[in-house]
Amino acid sequence: MCQSCLSWYARCIAPYLVHAGCSSSAFTHMRKRMIPRAEGVVVEVGFGSGLNLPYYDAAKVGRLVGVDPDGTMLGLAAPKIRALALDVECLRASGESLPLADNFADTVVVTYAFCTIPDPEAALAEIRRILRPTGQLIFIEHGQAQGPRWRKWQERLNRPWARLAGGCQLNRDPLHLISGAGFRLVQAERGRFPLPFWQLGSHYAGVAVAPAG
Ligand SMILES: C[S@@+](CC[C@H](N)C(=O)[O-])C[C@H]1O[C@@H](n2cnc3c(N)ncnc32)[C@H](O)[C@@H]1O
Repeated sequence: MCQSCLSWYARCIAPYLVHAGCSSSAFTHMRKRMIPRAEGVVVEVGFGSGLNLPYYDAAKVGRLVGVDPDGTMLGLAAPKIRALALDVECLRASGESLPLADNFADTVVVTYAFCTIPDPEAALAEIRRILRPTGQLIFIEHGQAQGPRWRKWQERLNRPWARLAGGCQLNRDPLHLISGAGFRLVQAERGRFPLPFWQLGSHYAGVAVAPAG
């Protein structure tokens, strides 16, 4: 495909495909379990089309800031935000350079976005910076499969898949990324996706903290 077709596809088609894929029930059950744990001032990095919005507990969340560089994705979230009894603000920005003060957040939420953020290590350093010492990082991700045979297929598919799915990488290891950034995993689980999503590998979820010092 030529370069201008690729960028047209990335702008006009990929966000809708990603939104449709991420709306699947294969993802929803994990959102239902993890998102109600967010509390206080919450920052969601890689906010996308706002698919976590219905699962925030309005009694626990004082304020929610959604950060995403993709204006089309944020546009898809807008009608859901208007329908909510929650103080939500969206920022068009990258996880690698968060326009937020140090110690800003009690909770940072990242769901299915460490796969797509071009520099996840830089985003995790930013998340550490904006998270209070008592804060928590709640994550849900897909990534590296368990068996070597599946991992080999993920490596093969990685490039075409990334082009198709807005830059999503199949072969990242979110637990390794998060602990490598100095976070301590206080909960981490690894399961499987149902068969139509086998290429996504393992389904990860957990909570991490990064005490100061
Ligand atoms: C697979 S979607 C997941 C969206 C949403 N978190 C969800 O759970 O449905 C990945 C998201 O990461 C966003 N993204 C891409 N690059 C990013 C970056 N540098 N910083 C933050 N988010 C980014 C994309 O725009 C997209 O909305």
